[in-house]
Amino acid sequence: MTRNSFFRGLAFLTAFALALASAHAEIRETSVWWLPRNVNMFGHDVDFLFYIILFLTGVAFIGVFFAMILFLIKYRYRPGVAAIHTHGNNALEVVWTTIPAFIFLALAIYGNEQWSKMRRQTPPANALPVAVVGEQFGWNVRYPGPDGKLGKMVAAKISKENPFGIDLADPAGLDDFTTYNELVFPVGRPVRLYLGSKDVIHAFYVPEFRLYQDMVPGRVYDFVWLKAEATGNFQLACNQLCGQGHYKMFGKLSVVPELDYETWAKSKTPPPVTMTGR
Ligand code: CUA
Repeated sequence: MTRNSFFRGLAFLTAFALALASAHAEIRETSVWWLPRNVNMFGHDVDFLFYIILFLTGVAFIGVFFAMILFLIKYRYRPGVAAIHTHGNNALEVVWTTIPAFIFLALAIYGNEQWSKMRRQTPPANALPVAVVGEQFGWNVRYPGPDGKLGKMVAAKISKENPFGIDLADPAGLDDFTTYNELVFPVGRPVRLYLGSKDVIHAFYVPEFRLYQDMVPGRVYDFVWLKAEATGNFQLACNQLCGQGHYKMFGKLSVVPELDYETWAKSKTPPPVTMTGR
């Protein structure tokens, strides 16, 4: 390869990478090169853990490579210098096993604590309940009507005709309204999700919420909740390869002030039949 064609290739690759990055940035609204903006209450702890692990692995990476390069130079072949045969060093091995063991243990305990906060704590009573049911390839979304209550979802009743598995006898569901690929959450108010799937495994994933939950058919996940701390437009992307249309399975998600949410909810007239998904 000539020098010229090398630089032309490099310029092409750079332009290509930049074009890709800007295409992504349009969809994602925030940074492509680093973590996307965090707008969920729980996200700070997730990011904190991420930075701790990045720091620890960064220090280990530099240490290991520094030692490796040092040894490569120090113990390189030199005529007349005999090789050293070693069978290891017990004290050293105890040290470099014990320290990582304690670090992993500490990370596991801390991580588990954060996980409990996110998934095992009961969602606050004032949380807005929102049902999201994945299908090939889109999101059925169900909001409570003026009564503030969602109809009860029964996993076994989820079907093509009844994507939310709503019990028709349940009066709480009569005034619910549904959308397709459109979600609006109020800022500063907890949102409790009821996640399910009509067909195959999908995953609820919003990077800006640091929130990911698989949705296995036959289950209703009622323990996932979040609290958005800032307004903005985001994307609910499916994060499990669920078929040929997986790539286009995204919903528009907006976080708006509470009053705007109320206005939007009022503008959605309840459907005459409560179990339709679209
Ligand atoms: Cu649904 Cu990928």
